[in-house]
Amino acid sequence: MIARTRIADLLAAPAPSAEGRAITVHGWARSRRDSKAGISFVDLNDGSSLNGLQIVIPATLSGYADLIKGIHLGTALRIDGLLVPSQGRGQTVEVQATAVDITGACDPERFPIQKQAMTMEHLRTLPHLRARTRTIQAIMRVRSVLAGAVHRFFQERGFIYVHTPIITGADCEGAGKQFHVTTFDVGAPPRGPDGAVDWAQDFFARPVHLTVSGQLEGETYACGLGDIYTFGPTFRAENSNTPRHLAEFWMIEPEMAFCDLDGDRAVACDFVRACVADALARCAPEIAFLEQQQSPGLHASLETLAGAEFAHLTYSEAISALERSKRAFEFPVQWGIDLQSEHERWLVEEHCKRPVVVTNYPKGIKAFYMRLDPGEQTVSAMDVLVPRMGELIGGSQREERLDVLEARMRECHLDPAAYAGYLDLRRFGSVPHAGFGLGFERLVCLVTGTQNIRDVIPYPRTPGSCP
Ligand code: 4AD
Ligand code: MG
Repeated sequence: MIARTRIADLLAAPAPSAEGRAITVHGWARSRRDSKAGISFVDLNDGSSLNGLQIVIPATLSGYADLIKGIHLGTALRIDGLLVPSQGRGQTVEVQATAVDITGACDPERFPIQKQAMTMEHLRTLPHLRARTRTIQAIMRVRSVLAGAVHRFFQERGFIYVHTPIITGADCEGAGKQFHVTTFDVGAPPRGPDGAVDWAQDFFARPVHLTVSGQLEGETYACGLGDIYTFGPTFRAENSNTPRHLAEFWMIEPEMAFCDLDGDRAVACDFVRACVADALARCAPEIAFLEQQQSPGLHASLETLAGAEFAHLTYSEAISALERSKRAFEFPVQWGIDLQSEHERWLVEEHCKRPVVVTNYPKGIKAFYMRLDPGEQTVSAMDVLVPRMGELIGGSQREERLDVLEARMRECHLDPAAYAGYLDLRRFGSVPHAGFGLGFERLVCLVTGTQNIRDVIPYPRTPGSCP
């Protein structure tokens, strides 16, 4: 077994005595500095913490001169030494090396990661190496803590984690933005006499897709287990080349039986606040670093968000406010339009000056499953809008009345026969229920102050790009 102590554990441990403590660490050099007194200092990082460990290599170490010539940014090292209190500024402990092994050389001329700040755009061209940078490491550590926060929030409230399928025949959002899943030779699929593709011969004997949402399956489990949530990958073949869209992203979808739109909204607001508070409590060094690196004012804005009372506007109120603003929006404002990012950001950043939940949208711009409001013009939908990102959450109370749902499906040109199981929920013991979906990468962008969603997921998939 390889002997190793994680640098994070060493930095967090009680201060060592002056005699020191024997340890072995492994990591990658971030920098090397040689003093005139014949000592070299190496900043070693092993990924376990934002801060590196200072390694002091004395000139008396055998082979010193040759050894240090091989140590550069990116070199992998194994160090045996004594952990001692540091004499220098900037760190409390350091390691007096007694043996230094270059376990993985790294040619400084050819290593694509350089010491001077590299743009996030450039790092995107190096998806296999960008995890060596502090910015990506900080973002990924926050991402991991937020994933834990999601589970903590729901598990503490008695929600059941349900794994909904990734391959599905249902089109939840009814927007035709799905990726096909097939074993056919795409160049020559079997065809029927009419020339149409004969899906009966495909693996599942029918056309199926990667899921765009786990909601429909989530509803069936909520109407049995009460409160459930999903947290999994989601796929959308929408040709949106924006800093807020991915073709593969992760979504969290709670679904609650015996719940209406007001209850849904309350859970959504609590959920966002709890995730932000959890990240603030567990990722203070990362948030401070990202504030200085890419997002001035990040910490204060997260503190505000964690304690914020979210504003609430109906869609009609939002439209009136946008009309009264006299702003020259690129997309003109009129009752019935889908809110664009510029409208959402104006509502949050200028009108309400805090996160806002917009509810009761026109039925024409929302999915078939949302509950029709009295008056039959709007549905019990909600979007949670936050600073910088705009829409973070989309949700609704679901239509639980069988006849109304069937009529809405026909209006949306959906075949009720294709949703037989979904309709059965309304046929046998139907109950009011509601839920929402939160785009996980948008949450990570919000908490890390990252501008582009491609920088908060390890391997971003976007139109024309699957590195
Ligand atoms: O608003 P959406 O489309 O809602 C649903 O899918 C519902 N079935 C959710 C539910 O009620 N259970 O998507 C939910 C959220 C959005 O608010 C957004 O944050 C995120 O998913 N999202 C995306 N994130 C990244 N890239 C994309 N292409 C996204 N599309 C949606
Ligand atoms: Mg939406």
